[in-house]
Amino acid sequence: LSDGDIIKIKTTWRIPMEDPSESGQAILLKFFERYPSNLEKFKNFKGLSIEELKVNTHFHAHASKIIRIFDEAINTLGTDYTDSALQEIWSKIAISHHKRDISKASYNELKEIILETLVAVCDMNNDQKGAWEKLFICVYNIIFQTIDNLTK
Ligand code: HEM
Repeated sequence: LSDGDIIKIKTTWRIPMEDPSESGQAILLKFFERYPSNLEKFKNFKGLSIEELKVNTHFHAHASKIIRIFDEAINTLGTDYTDSALQEIWSKIAISHHKRDISKASYNELKEIILETLVAVCDMNNDQKGAWEKLFICVYNIIFQTIDNLTK
């Protein structure tokens, strides 16, 4: 990631961060609507309809957690410990999700929804979207490598 990419990511990220819970919910609702099989992985709220999810506190909590992790990761960008911090944050996610049998395909589905949501919410241009895509390449390399090591 170049310095320019980091600035693009940090400035656009401020917009969903104005209401992290709402942003997380918008992303997760779209994720379950488009790829409903992912909902089955959640013991606490599988089987619920979209309308029921909207008022479910477990759902709200999980939506906020996803945003918090991204916020942590984005806060480390541009520091001298970026690489080790990203490695730690995202390998931890990969390990905890491996136990829940979350596939690479599911991660890619979520990535598609997050990028789409950010483009819409932040009214991003192609340059800004490109910076986010680079961040996802970096983050998903860590996740997928961790998964590969766990399944060896
Ligand atoms: C739990 C973040 C992707 C399914 C969690 C937790 C966090 C989190 C922080 C709670 C703590 C933990 O166990 O690690 C993220 C982030 C993701 C991501 C940042 C972005 C790549 C996914 C995907 C799925 C998923 C793609 C697919 C269905 C779950 C489930 C739980 C969970 C089922 C357990 C929920 C519970 O029982 O309370 N996630 N997650 N996550 N995540 Fe994710």
